[in-house]
Amino acid sequence: VLTLHVDDDLDMRLLEPPHAVALFELIERNRPHLRAWLPWLDGTRSARDTRRFIREAREGFKDLLMVQMGIWAGEELVGAIGINRMDIANRRAQIGYWLSRDHEGKGIVTRCCERLIRYGFEQLDLNKIEIRCEPGNERSAAIPERLGFVREGVLREAQWINGRFVDLVVYGMLAREWMARR
Ligand SMILES: CC(C)(COP(=O)(O)OP(=O)(O)OC[C@H]1O[C@@H](n2cnc3c(N)ncnc32)[C@H](O)[C@@H]1OP(=O)(O)O)[C@@H](O)C(=O)NCCC(=O)NCCS
Repeated sequence: VLTLHVDDDLDMRLLEPPHAVALFELIERNRPHLRAWLPWLDGTRSARDTRRFIREAREGFKDLLMVQMGIWAGEELVGAIGINRMDIANRRAQIGYWLSRDHEGKGIVTRCCERLIRYGFEQLDLNKIEIRCEPGNERSAAIPERLGFVREGVLREAQWINGRFVDLVVYGMLAREWMARR
């Protein structure tokens, strides 16, 4: 099982079917907070839906399409982060994330992203990692900005969420830029 150690109190582990109930309960407790920004909430109505997502994610991991991980602060599951939409031919992927509201503001997702980006460039041999977020999602945009990503542009009406189309800002980091930063 893939585990990425972030620091003393923070680990990311590949999501497994036994995590489904805890993950669903966390989603349920944070539903309004997450639903504002993530398009999959309305399709996640029970632990069964979450278990299906995890199973598909495991298949996707085997096929080198995605890496979906839970975030643990000590023994507590507090959020999720993943490498999505791996485009092997072009060695490119996107990172997505969410965190329980009561753990925000401590730098958890910034630190997890940093570790996952390192994994993506060093272990998966990616050339480019993107983060996409809505122009109004300032907390999310602050993460790629803090990590030195380049704001590459805006995809107009790129996502259907809560009954409307929204734009997505694309942030990009190249492997050579990441190595030069370190
Ligand atoms: C966006 C989201 C993931 C941010 O999570 P987070 O862990 O709070 O984000 P960060 O890691 O960037 O934390 C940054 C905050 O921690 C503080 N911090 C503390 N220690 C830190 C450290 N070591 N490194 C960086 N920041 C640190 C920062 O000062 C900052 O505080 P501020 O927000 O008051 O300026 C979370 O708000 C969320 O899940 N939102 C809803 C879902 C969502 O929007 N997902 C993304 C869709 S694109």
